Amino acid sequence: MASRLLKTLLILVFLSFASSREDDSFVFNGFRGANLSLDGFASVVPDGLLVLTNWSTQAKGHAFHPKPFKFKSDTTPGTTLSFSTTFVFAIIPEYSYVSGHGMAFVISHTTDFSTALPTQYLALFNLSDNGNATNHVLGIELDTIVNAEFQDINNNHVGIDVNSLNSTNSTGAGYYDDSTGAFQNLTLASSVPMQIWVDYEGQDMQLNVTMAPVPMAKPSKPLLSSTIDLSSVMTDSMYVGFSSANGHLLTTHCVLGWSFKMNGTAEPLDYAQLPPLPLLDTKHKSQKLAIWLPLASCAFVLLVVATVVLAVKRRNKYAELREDWEQEYGPHRFSYKELFRATKGFKAKALLGSGGFGRVYRGVLPSSKLEVAVKRVSHESRQGMKEFVAEIVSIGQLRHRNIVQLLGYCRRKGELLLVYDYMPNGSLDNFLYDETRPALSWAQRFGIMKGVASGLLYLHQDWEKIVVHRDIKASNVLLDSELNGRLGDFGLARLYDHGTDAHTTHIVGTMGYLAPELAQTGKATTKTDVFAFGAFLLEVACGRRPVAPGAEGQQLLLLDWVLENWKKGTLLATGDRRLGRNFPVEEMETVLKLGLLCSHPSPDTRPTMRQVMHFLDGDSTMPELPLAYKSIGVMSLIQRDGFDDYMMSSSTSVSHMFALSGGR
Ligand SMILES: *[C@@H]1O[C@H](CO)[C@@H](O)[C@H](O)[C@H]1NC(C)=O
Ligand SMILES: *[C@@H]1O[C@H](CO)[C@@H](O)[C@H](O)[C@H]1NC(C)=O
Ligand SMILES: *[C@@H]1O[C@H](CO)[C@@H](O)[C@H](O)[C@H]1NC(C)=O
Ligand SMILES: *[C@@H]1O[C@H](CO)[C@@H](O)[C@H](O)[C@H]1NC(C)=O
Ligand SMILES: *[C@@H]1O[C@H](CO)[C@@H](O)[C@H](O)[C@H]1NC(C)=O
Ligand SMILES: *[C@@H]1O[C@H](CO)[C@@H](O)[C@H](O)[C@H]1NC(C)=O
Ligand SMILES: *[C@@H]1O[C@H](CO)[C@@H](O)[C@H](O)[C@H]1NC(C)=O
Ligand SMILES: *[C@@H]1O[C@H](CO)[C@@H](O)[C@H](O)[C@H]1NC(C)=O
Ligand SMILES: *[C@@H]1O[C@H](CO)[C@@H](O)[C@H](O)[C@H]1NC(C)=O
Repeated sequence: MASRLLKTLLILVFLSFASSREDDSFVFNGFRGANLSLDGFASVVPDGLLVLTNWSTQAKGHAFHPKPFKFKSDTTPGTTLSFSTTFVFAIIPEYSYVSGHGMAFVISHTTDFSTALPTQYLALFNLSDNGNATNHVLGIELDTIVNAEFQDINNNHVGIDVNSLNSTNSTGAGYYDDSTGAFQNLTLASSVPMQIWVDYEGQDMQLNVTMAPVPMAKPSKPLLSSTIDLSSVMTDSMYVGFSSANGHLLTTHCVLGWSFKMNGTAEPLDYAQLPPLPLLDTKHKSQKLAIWLPLASCAFVLLVVATVVLAVKRRNKYAELREDWEQEYGPHRFSYKELFRATKGFKAKALLGSGGFGRVYRGVLPSSKLEVAVKRVSHESRQGMKEFVAEIVSIGQLRHRNIVQLLGYCRRKGELLLVYDYMPNGSLDNFLYDETRPALSWAQRFGIMKGVASGLLYLHQDWEKIVVHRDIKASNVLLDSELNGRLGDFGLARLYDHGTDAHTTHIVGTMGYLAPELAQTGKATTKTDVFAFGAFLLEVACGRRPVAPGAEGQQLLLLDWVLENWKKGTLLATGDRRLGRNFPVEEMETVLKLGLLCSHPSPDTRPTMRQVMHFLDGDSTMPELPLAYKSIGVMSLIQRDGFDDYMMSSSTSVSHMFALSGGR
């Protein structure tokens, strides 16, 4: 009787315990059979691993606990309840040269992220709602790419995101060792499981984020600790889960185990029960040499000889130049063999075009199936190579939707290879001047101009360093699959820190886009870029090249022609005839006048790119063009200053006189 009573009591206790667990906590040591609400590319593989995004481009994936939780206190209105969670994750980039995008632990009022963007938006926000308080999203981001547009600190950080990808606090990934107190770095995208703890104390409004490798006890000092009032973020019921996204770079984001609890400490995970990570391609094929050896000792010798001969041949075929200083750039270095394979041996069929820099080939990287453009630049001198590579690697960190992504490089004797994202629609000048293609509409042109302006603004003002592009022109603007304009070809751009002067010894650029002061000072600045951008605006609006051969071997400047028409009051007549009258008059006028203003001979009269953006967006009105505006015969100036014939020869890029050669 007594034992029966005890049993009943125990069952009752157990039941109440179980139900309270169900209500305000859960623990998943692996996700086999777990009831999760998944979307996009998210799935639970048979082993129980939660895969948020697999190796697919532009993929988004979310996984949420199906039932929302109550985060608001009933007893003290306005306060947020404490909560705690811990999870083990792994970020597995497919292609070890380039790290992929990141993932985030998310508390959100909705599980519908259908309008969120992949890539740097981590499938949480889009262009228009980033930062909006109506998002009601708290994210703990594990971010593996530096995005200046969100003020990211580096390409390996943990951040607290309140309604925005601009983190309220962030720091490099790692942990404080309990025994020594020293900080230990961890690499997020290293295919190694790591653990995160997120703890919020409602009363003090303290949010802690702690990280450690697996298995390790939770370090006592958190990685991040912020005081954040979450009361305006939390709505009555909120979902908890994960979000992740890919761009071009393929990454698998996995969660191995997850525990969560409201108003208490999340139950620890049982590491022994966590599912294994997918095997990377390190499988060894078993070699059954032993059976063959007695039979084949003679053949073996022959084989060795043949192999050596072949290997030597192959070595020459794939020979590269590598120096010690390049070690730090390892992740950005491609092997020549890989690029050779990607382009099917640089076959003529893969040739996309050739310009001032060299030839450009289309390719598909064998390991990642990523489409790329490979540019072969010939160079003889090794001088300045180290600086140049440092520069391109630094440029490779630029991320902007209006900039062609540089993925990495490779060096060979007498040649440098640069690897870029492939742009399916080629360069803008092909669209402008190829009569066999349908003319770009005004809306498309205007979108491209704004895109290029936004990319250039990023280079000039919004990135950590000032980047002067030095060769803005239609043929350096590439169009992606949606006809967005992206700036390419940074071979010329030299970086220098804010506040210091640019030192250049050569004039680089293209006739018709060169600011007059370049002839005098030889210094490329953001102002000379703005001049070129002005010429670019006129070029796109008028559908004419900035310099065209005129009568008697003279060169006609587009700028002069538009200026003349402006003075005669016939500005609109300069619009591209292929547009007919299909353009909004105000926009066309704005663009033409802005083109003239940007290409003003006096650098101080030219607007900054931020102002240009405002004018194009219609946020502020442009100043009237100065009546005394006269183009100061850029050509004659340059001729007088005695630039060599080579530079004068044509409107094609003269840009290969770049820093690489050190001298000429
Ligand atoms: C990724 O997942 C999607 C949908 O779950 C599937 O169709 C696709 O084949 C997967 N791709 C890879 C590379 O695993
Ligand atoms: C999963 O959870 C949801 C919400 O609690 C519930 O409606 C659904 O029936 C569950 N599905 C399964 C298979 O348990
Ligand atoms: C951005 O997301 C919001 C929801 O947060 C949605 O209302 C809006 O339509 C989205 N914008 C775009 C351009 O997709
Ligand atoms: C994020 O930071 C960028 C760069 O400083 C800034 O332009 C943008 O307005 C910020 N967005 C939000 C929502 O704070
Ligand atoms: C924030 O989003 C709401 C609703 O989606 C919208 O009405 C509001 O204009 C947005 N605010 C800003 C600053 O974009
Ligand atoms: C940790 O990472 C930071 C930032 O990347 C770096 O400056 C520091 O040298 C690293 N420390 C160690 C011990 O590797
Ligand atoms: C956050 O960390 C601080 C410092 O270690 C600690 O005093 C505090 O109790 C922690 N708060 C929570 C909610 O874990
Ligand atoms: C960000 O986190 C660091 C490390 O815990 C902390 O010292 C700092 O006060 C936090 N900053 C803010 C603004 O919360
Ligand atoms: C949270 O937990 C504390 C102590 O464990 C308890 O006193 C309090 O009532 C709980 N609050 C809620 C809203 O569950």
